[in-house]
Amino acid sequence: MPGTLASDYAAWKKLQQLYDTEKPQLVLKDLFASDPNRFSKYSVEYTDAANPATTILLDYSKNLINDQVLSTLLDLVKEAGVEGARDDMFSGKHINTSEDRAVLHVALRNVDDSFSIQEEGASEVKEVLAHIKEFTEAVRSGEWKGYTGKTIDTIVNIGIGGSDLGPVMVTEALKPYSKRDLTAHFISNIDGTHLAETVRLCNPETTLFIVASKTFTTQETITNATSAREWFLQTAKDKAHVAKHFVALSTNTKAVTEFGISEKNMFKFWDWVGGRYSLWSAIGLSIALSIGYDNFEALLKGAHGMDLHFKNTPLEKNLPVLLAVMGIWYNDFYGPSPHFPLFSRPFANSTHMSVTFAGSQTHALLPYDQYLHKFADYFQQGDMESNGKFVTKDGHRVDYQTGPILWGASGTNGQHSFYQLVHQGTKLIPTDFIAPATSHNPLNQYGANHHRILLSNFFAQPEALAFGKTEEDVRKELGPNAAEATIKAKVFEGNRPSNSIMFPLLTPATLGALVAMYEHKIFVQGMVWGINSFDQMGVELGKVCGLLVRFC
Ligand code: F6P
Repeated sequence: MPGTLASDYAAWKKLQQLYDTEKPQLVLKDLFASDPNRFSKYSVEYTDAANPATTILLDYSKNLINDQVLSTLLDLVKEAGVEGARDDMFSGKHINTSEDRAVLHVALRNVDDSFSIQEEGASEVKEVLAHIKEFTEAVRSGEWKGYTGKTIDTIVNIGIGGSDLGPVMVTEALKPYSKRDLTAHFISNIDGTHLAETVRLCNPETTLFIVASKTFTTQETITNATSAREWFLQTAKDKAHVAKHFVALSTNTKAVTEFGISEKNMFKFWDWVGGRYSLWSAIGLSIALSIGYDNFEALLKGAHGMDLHFKNTPLEKNLPVLLAVMGIWYNDFYGPSPHFPLFSRPFANSTHMSVTFAGSQTHALLPYDQYLHKFADYFQQGDMESNGKFVTKDGHRVDYQTGPILWGASGTNGQHSFYQLVHQGTKLIPTDFIAPATSHNPLNQYGANHHRILLSNFFAQPEALAFGKTEEDVRKELGPNAAEATIKAKVFEGNRPSNSIMFPLLTPATLGALVAMYEHKIFVQGMVWGINSFDQMGVELGKVCGLLVRFC
């Protein structure tokens, strides 16, 4: 519907009314007390049909919703045409309208050709995967030698943004599957310190540099790659040796060959792969080198399973859709704090808001898995670069909030830093708690059951956020002589919403499914808000500023 803002939808208006009428009843303690089946009613288990070992449980029962709110949120998704937009994405329509591009990261993991895609390059995906397989096997087996005949023992990915964050996050997350005698480093920052401190750890005879840049024009990456090549040549001397130690991942053949990397050492991808959705493409070469091709393929398959779930599952059982609508409920309808209803009320009834309504503002990703310590960093780009936009696809200024500020850290570290504010601060912070049921490192041999302790924290935190601790309980606990101020300080009001996401073990396939789940959540939210989640004009502006500085 051209010119339509999300706030014009009937479902949006109904949600504004529901916020007013239902909010007093949306008290988690009461909702759980009145419905013993709330957990089973508001949880969904996803199983990958092609690989039943890959399952994800989403428990969204600790959200401030009831049946009416949930069904209206799903009506909003329908009214916004998300299902049609989803089909357009999968079929290769140019849904990235400002750049006139298809959005086809799903084609990179279309391992069993479940859907047919008519877009230039889509038929070459398998060829590039075969190139990745051949190359990773040559390097990992030691068949690929450096210029002095030594085996490669270090890889250095040089890239930034999507050409860095995905590879970093996944190689960290899948470390248990990595080749431990092949060290992986990542250089992104233009600050020379990043390069200097990294090459200090490298031997030019045994190091392979992977220059990862979709455009091959990004100032940081090209500067770092040029300096890395000079560092290498200081020892290797002969430019002919560059071929053994530099490969490129890019869509820009001309720039790659001008840099001195031969086309046969270039792994290509296409303009329909967005930077922040590129880990599934040739940009994932460092991942494949680290964990091996078979595990890289398992990662793709896991994501593909989630793609099929997103494409084919009814909205009310669809994990990305459910996560998306919970986020929209807080982001667009909840006030800046549940404790300051006056701030939100004047706007809640208005259909044409003159002041931008401030929702809950942020969303926290809290994985209880040290291997996922880069997960929130990764989705900071994934979410904020996709949905941090104030103009709709057809050029209208929105009169509501779009993408939240995404942040987080792995548990239990976060508990000893920012959880105070999450529990007792004045802001409403919806959170996703994420954990594997079993650990790659239970460490039982040392006596303490680390994973059991970790999981007990994972279960306790959402409970405490949801149910809090009443003044009455605090009084009982502290006894009659306790100071009033101390009693007040120990009260937890509760009613703070969260999702809990669990899976059996962090495997390549499960990670693929998890990442795809969040990618599609971002898609759904962007479509409801009517924005283009696939361009990044704000970042392009920053890039131009960077170039201006360079030529000054
Ligand atoms: O940070 C913005 C961005 O455009 C990302 O989307 C992209 O991944 C990154 O810059 C780097 O760009 P390139 O891969 O072209 O070097």
